[in-house]
Amino acid sequence: MIVCICEGVSDREVKRVLRQGACDLGSLRRECGAGGDCGSCRPQLRRMLRELKATGRQTPGG
Ligand code: FES
Repeated sequence: MIVCICEGVSDREVKRVLRQGACDLGSLRRECGAGGDCGSCRPQLRRMLRELKATGRQTPGG
């Protein structure tokens, strides 16, 4: 599923970058471009960041 429409970044790509150590929106943007344009995906990106932190970087299906 595409999370960031502007940059065409999928949830899988975001999870991959998060697993590799991205810990905030700035590093996500640098690594895959997500959230770097209109910003409407940022709430979803923040949610994914929170979830990954809460689960110790383990995500199902990613
Ligand atoms: S949808 Fe991600 S920056 Fe626009």
